[in-house]
Amino acid sequence: MTAKIRLGCSRENINCNEIARVVEEAGAAALTVHGRTAADMFRGNADWERISEIKSHLRNIPLIGNGDLDSAEKVVAAFDQYDVDAVMIARACLGRPWLFAQAAAALRGEPIPPEPTLPEQRDVMLKHYQLVVDRFGDEKGTVLMRKYACCYAQGKHGARYFRTHVAKVSTPEEFHSVVEEYFPLHDPKRESQDAESVSSAAGS
Ligand SMILES: Cc1cc2nc3c(=O)[nH]c(=O)nc-3n(C[C@H](O)[C@H](O)[C@H](O)COP(=O)(O)O)c2cc1C
Repeated sequence: MTAKIRLGCSRENINCNEIARVVEEAGAAALTVHGRTAADMFRGNADWERISEIKSHLRNIPLIGNGDLDSAEKVVAAFDQYDVDAVMIARACLGRPWLFAQAAAALRGEPIPPEPTLPEQRDVMLKHYQLVVDRFGDEKGTVLMRKYACCYAQGKHGARYFRTHVAKVSTPEEFHSVVEEYFPLHDPKRESQDAESVSSAAGS
């Protein structure tokens, strides 16, 4: 059994070092720490210095650091700078599960795989949807997936239309038809970057 804690109840009442010792003595197999306090909710930044400090209060169990990791580079930096044994990623992986493959490559010292194209991202989302439906059934799975489908579209051109429509689906047919019609497949920012790299390659 593992445990997960925050730094404390508030920035004025940080007690994670003490709680870490209690958790280890109670027999936990590992400790995950989200570097915010309960009062912070999700405001501000996770305090990785505080997470790092906990390491010296644990005798044997692994310390898993958590908070604000949203890129392979940040994962590598977390291991390099903060002496954690593992990291946990929550929000950033919700619509970008390929982040794990990117982080794993970076940790092996290999080139970081690029973000999938938008059609590839849509296909990953559809596979995710299928797994959720297999697990929870058509209706519950479709309703559950409304929120996660939006994570895949987040930040993309047309995400708002997709969100508005996917929020109402309750059958696989409706889900697939909304994805077909509204899942964002064009990213003007990325297309202009691609065009720039093609023209600079052509110019060089
Ligand atoms: C959808 C969602 C559900 C979560 N559920 C839990 C939970 O049940 N228990 C928990 O300790 N933390 C929960 N969290 C918090 C995350 O585990 C994590 O500590 C927090 O999001 C910070 O990590 P991040 O910056 O990588 O998102 C949840 C977060 C999200 C986004």
